[in-house]
Amino acid sequence: MAKIIIGNFKMNTDIKDLSLYLEDFLPKIKERKTEVGLALPYTHLFLASQKLVSTNVKLGAQNVFYENNGAYTGEISPQMLKSISTDFVIIGHSERRILFNETNENINKKILKCLEHNLKMVLCVGETKTERKQNKTNQVLKKQIEYALKGVYENELKNIIIAYEPVWAIGTGLVATTKEIEKTIYDIREIIKGSFSEKASRSIKILYGGSANLSNYLPIIKIKGIDGLLVGGASLKSDEFAKMANLK
Ligand code: PGA
Repeated sequence: MAKIIIGNFKMNTDIKDLSLYLEDFLPKIKERKTEVGLALPYTHLFLASQKLVSTNVKLGAQNVFYENNGAYTGEISPQMLKSISTDFVIIGHSERRILFNETNENINKKILKCLEHNLKMVLCVGETKTERKQNKTNQVLKKQIEYALKGVYENELKNIIIAYEPVWAIGTGLVATTKEIEKTIYDIREIIKGSFSEKASRSIKILYGGSANLSNYLPIIKIKGIDGLLVGGASLKSDEFAKMANLK
C-alpha cells in the first residue's frame, strides 16, 4: 500500500512563495510511489487547486467550520472548500485545540459536516508531555477519538485518516521513539476496534506527525501500523519535502 505523505504549511508562506514552491516541488515528485497531500493556508487554495490539476497531489485545508453558510464571520465551510476542489481538511490539530480552544465537541461537528459534503479529513490526536508522563496517553487518545467519531458510521471511516501527533513532538525537534510510536499506533487501532470493528481497526489509515524530517523519517515510516506522515516544518522546504515524498 502506498505511503501517505502530507505537508502542513500552517500559517507560513505567501502566494508568491507558493508558486515558487510548486514550480520546484511538482517536477521533482513525478515518479513518486507515495500519495502526497499539501495542507495550505486558505489564501493559497484556489491558486493551488489550479496548479495541482493533473498532478494527483491532494489539496488540503487546515481547518473548516461546521455550518454550510450564515453569519459566521471569518469561517469557511466544507461546501466552500469543495467548490474549489479541496480534497481534504485537517481537523483537530493540537495548535487549534490549544491556541483556539477547539473542543472535542466542535471537532465532532466538523467531522459530521465534512462527511455530508464528501470532504476527506485528517483527524489529529495526541497527548501532551504531562499526560504521557502521567501514563494518560491511552486515556487521552481514547477520549479524543471516541468523541470525534461519535455518529460516524463504519463505512464512512474511509474518508478519515487519523494523525497521531504527540503535542510535545510538534515543532520541537523531539520525536517520539519508534517503540513509543508503535505502541501508540497499536493502541489507536484497539480504540477503533472497540468503537467499530476489527476490520475497521485494520483498515483505518494512521499517520505520525511531530518533527518528522528528511533525516529521521525513514525509521518512522517503517514502523508497523504506520501508513504515512504529517509533516509541518520540513514540508516548507520544497527540496527536502520532495525527497521525503520520493520514498522508495
Ligand atoms: P512539525 O509539525 O513537523 O513541524 O513538528 C507537524 C504538525 O504539526 O503537523
